[in-house]
This record gives sequence, C-alpha cells and structure tokens, in this order.
Amino acid sequence: MLAIETRDLRRRFGPTVAVDGVSLSVPRGCVYGFMGRNGAGKTTTLKMLLGLVRPDAGTIRIAGRDALADRLGAARCMGALLEAHGFYAHLSGRENLDLSRSLLGLKRSELERVLDIVGLSPDAERRVGGYSLGMRQRLGIARALLGSPEVLILDEPTNGLDPDGIADMRDFLCTLPARANATVLLSSHLLGEVEQVADRVGILHQGRLVLQDDLAALRAGQAPQLKLGCDDPLRARPLITDLGLKSEPDSGLITLAPSADVREAACALNRALVEAGIGVHELSPQARSLEAIYRDVTTLSPALPQDAA
Ligand SMILES: Nc1ncnc2c1ncn2[C@@H]1O[C@H](COP(=O)(O)OP(=O)(O)OP(=O)(O)O)[C@@H](O)[C@H]1O
Ligand SMILES: [Mg+2]
Repeated sequence: MLAIETRDLRRRFGPTVAVDGVSLSVPRGCVYGFMGRNGAGKTTTLKMLLGLVRPDAGTIRIAGRDALADRLGAARCMGALLEAHGFYAHLSGRENLDLSRSLLGLKRSELERVLDIVGLSPDAERRVGGYSLGMRQRLGIARALLGSPEVLILDEPTNGLDPDGIADMRDFLCTLPARANATVLLSSHLLGEVEQVADRVGILHQGRLVLQDDLAALRAGQAPQLKLGCDDPLRARPLITDLGLKSEPDSGLITLAPSADVREAACALNRALVEAGIGVHELSPQARSLEAIYRDVTTLSPALPQDAA
C-alpha cells in the first residue's frame, strides 16, 4: 500500500494556479524528495495533504484513508514540520514539546522518545530562545514525531542551516524512516541534498509534477558517463571520438551510449590513450547528477503533460 497517493490535485489562489493536477505516489518506508523552485507549489501541495488548504479538485489518500472524507483520521497518521515553528522562546525545548503532547493526549514518556530520536535530550532543558536554527529544526521534527505518525511531512527541513547543519540534517534524515518507523516526504530546493537522502523524487515545476520516479531507476535510464583526467586533452579528443564516445571538453566528462558497458569503454579508452603516449591520471564512472536531470525536465520540457510524470 502507498503511504501517500494523490490524484490530479489542483488548487488556485485567485488568478494564480499554484498546483495544477499533481498525482503523487509515495511508497511506505521511503524518503521522498519533493523538489521545485520557489513558488513551484510545494508548500501548497503539502498543506493540502495535511488538510490545511482545501484542494479545488483531486483526491488524497494517506495510509489508505481518504483524507478529504476523513480529515481527522488522516491527520492522526501524519506529523509535520512547516515553515513557521511557533515555539515559545522563553520555554525550554521540553516545555514546548509538552504543550503539544498534552494537546494530543499522549503519555509523558513520549517526550523522551522523540527527544532521543532527534538527539536533543542533552539540550531539552534549555530555553528555545537560545537554540541554534538547526536545534529548532530538530525540535520541530521532534514535535512532528509525537504519537508515532506513519507519515512525516517536512517542508524544507534544511532551510537556513549552515553547511555543517545541512550535513547533520542529511545524516539524520537518511536514518529517520528506520528510527521512526515512518515514511518521510520532504520538500527542498537543494538538489544535491535530496540526491543524498531520497529513494524517490518528484519534481514540481509551475504547479505540475514534471517527473516522478525512484532515484535508482532515474539514474539507470541515463547515459553513463566517464570522468577523464589526462595530460594532453587536446590530443585525446580525436581518440575519444574514434572510439565512438562523446566528450564534453569543459567538464572532462565523456558520455557513452545508453547501453554501453562502462568498464569495457574505460578499458578501451585507457588503452588507446596510453598507446598514444598520453598520461591518464583519472578515469572513473560518474553518476549523472540529479541537478542535470532536473535541468533537463524543467528547461527542455517545461510543460510536459501530467501523464508523462
Ligand atoms: N495563501 C495564498 N494566497 C495567494 N497565493 C498563494 C498563497 N499560497 C501560495 N500562493 C501562491 O501559490 C504559488 C505556489 O506557492 P507555494 O508556497 O506552494 O510554493 P513553494 O514551492 O512552496 O515555494 P517556496 O520554495 O518559495 O517555499 C506561488 O505563486 C504563491 O505566491
Ligand atoms: Mg514552500
């Protein structure tokens, strides 16, 4: 069963079409990276899942429940981190969490559990006013984890963090499905980060889902590439072409045919270069970056029909 499934979700604000027929499929237990530029419609989509914005059209199923017919039932399955945390600065992390815990009617032991998952137990008695941004984000995630929801919805969890904070959050997010026994849907515009944590991605562009697939399948469908470092790139170029390979001089990347065997191509290329007296100091397979895939689907085909997603 899918953790989240939407069909043809739509929402406009006056003349602005924020979400234009989005059909998400998020399998259980995965980290799903929901990507798109500023204004693409990510937050609006997430708010519709959470029952905070009413869709104009479409259906939403959360853990098998019809979220529009059974809003409360669906809400009980979800925890969320949205842009504004709304924590009280003069209260401690634990006191802030305790307010939410008592509203939800949960046991006190739930506080220790969620503080432990996000690694905030040592700082739980400090005032939130003195927390770093990264600590506030973690506290927000701790609040989302109260009551062990099946689905966690995190809107830009790395927003505003410094590079160290982003790296910490990335490690944390990778292990979150296993530790919290949950499915994680996170939005982000940091493609490099999403690439390192997500199992599946959806790319939203001008309110439309222009691509949705497992990251492994996306990469498998791309033409493989080799990165070449040699001491005479100019002389190497015709030799590369002779082997039927395509070189991109600026990046040192060589693109193979989609069905090519990367190892065989690397061996043949190395042999040809060394036989021609060219020194090779690097020759390694490259995974096509999510950034390149993203650029392809958002610039080359900005208005892909929904069926193609
Ligand atoms: N309450 C609202 N009233 C009017 N327009 C809105 C409202 N909420 C969102 N919009 C518009 O809908 C579009 C999508 O906004 P949304 O916040 O969903 O994008 P986003 O992908 O989350 O962007 P960001 O990366 O900046 O957070 C934007 O054009 C935005 O101005
Ligand atoms: Mg947003």
